[in-house]
Amino acid sequence: MYNRLALAISCAFLAANPAMADQQVVEKDLRATAQNLFQPIPTAEQIITEQNISNDKIELGRWLFFEPRLSASHIITCNTCHSVGTGGADNIPTSIGHGWQAGPRNSPTVLNAVFNAAQFWDGRAADLAAQAKGPVQASVEMNSTPEHVVTTLKSIPEYVEFFQKAFPGEKDPVTFDNMAYAIEAFEKTLVTPNSRFDQFLAGQSALEQQELQGLDLFINKGCVACHAGQNVGGQGYFPFGVIEKPGANILPEGDKGRFAVTETAVDEYVFRAGPLRNIALTAPYFHSGQVWDLEQAVAIMGTSQLGHDLNDGEVKAITAFLKTLTGEQPKVEYPILPPSTRDTPLPKP
Ligand code: HEM
Ligand code: HEM
Repeated sequence: MYNRLALAISCAFLAANPAMADQQVVEKDLRATAQNLFQPIPTAEQIITEQNISNDKIELGRWLFFEPRLSASHIITCNTCHSVGTGGADNIPTSIGHGWQAGPRNSPTVLNAVFNAAQFWDGRAADLAAQAKGPVQASVEMNSTPEHVVTTLKSIPEYVEFFQKAFPGEKDPVTFDNMAYAIEAFEKTLVTPNSRFDQFLAGQSALEQQELQGLDLFINKGCVACHAGQNVGGQGYFPFGVIEKPGANILPEGDKGRFAVTETAVDEYVFRAGPLRNIALTAPYFHSGQVWDLEQAVAIMGTSQLGHDLNDGEVKAITAFLKTLTGEQPKVEYPILPPSTRDTPLPKP
């Protein structure tokens, strides 16, 4: 009875509002198309259950993510450049690391990084565990060594105990590799489900008209050719400037992207298509971090990747859609870390 009444009311309402009826048809078709191209972000609980990740490993990873003594100076942590309070990135053009050195690239977000096909702008690390060993050792990031890390962690009894719990049955669990596995486990929980776009994919009318237009343009102008899937990108490699190279300030000549990984001429200036989840939180944009305005980044993509000068309305609509990709941010408790002992190596300038 209730359903029949509701149907009669909504039919009468739609008959009186043809524009609304059109919008609902468009929305329904668009949803069906979008469901084929994109997948929602699961909750951390779903990932933990599916992948059977132990709480001890995640907790140890959380300590390590915020552990300044992994760095040579004892002041830089993963969170310095991937702050979980600011979209998992550092919001500066290129990251500042050891000795206040500026690195060559913008820091990508760690949020949802688990869904990327490979890590880094050039995809040179296969997964999060392989990735985590990089920054600890990079001279412009944490400037540390595996020996420094292991000596430091072994000098602190609470860490020794925690590694034993997180890696049960291992004879010598405090290793550089296990540090990376624990950080990976923690990073897998840094996901942002339930964005308005995901609500839309799930069947709710969660998007406004301009956002729906933006999604339609995003699909039909061809952005989806490179930015699709769960992370709306992060899956494939493409030349930055397929049609027209952006200026040298945005695409600096010194950074040839995947060429450094494969040493193949076709990979010059090839980069991973950026994952666009939470993109509204992670300015400035591109691997060079030279574009602060999301609308400008969208317009650049239009000319450089599609050979199409998007008009102002199109840029605004696509940008409005991109803003619906912001999900629920993980609430991360800052760990109280155990104190150093006499045996803990001292910081190095
Ligand atoms: C890339 C995690 C420390 C700056 C990444 C990525 C992850 C990550 C997962 C790849 C994301 C993606 O490709 O989408 C970590 C962890 C750290 C750490 C677990 C601690 C062990 C740092 C620090 C800095 C930094 C301290 C800054 C000094 C960067 C930059 C990139 C990056 C610039 C991009 C590099 C490139 O593409 O060549 N990090 N990070 N990270 N991180 Fe970190
Ligand atoms: C990066 C949006 C089309 C490949 C980006 C970024 C945005 C974006 C906002 C910056 C990500 C970040 O800084 O984290 C769009 C939109 C498009 C579009 C709105 C349609 C108008 C394409 C197409 C391709 C592509 C068709 C492939 C042919 C890339 C690549 C990057 C990127 C390789 C990384 C560039 C770099 O090295 O910094 N895109 N994109 N995009 N996109 Fe697109």
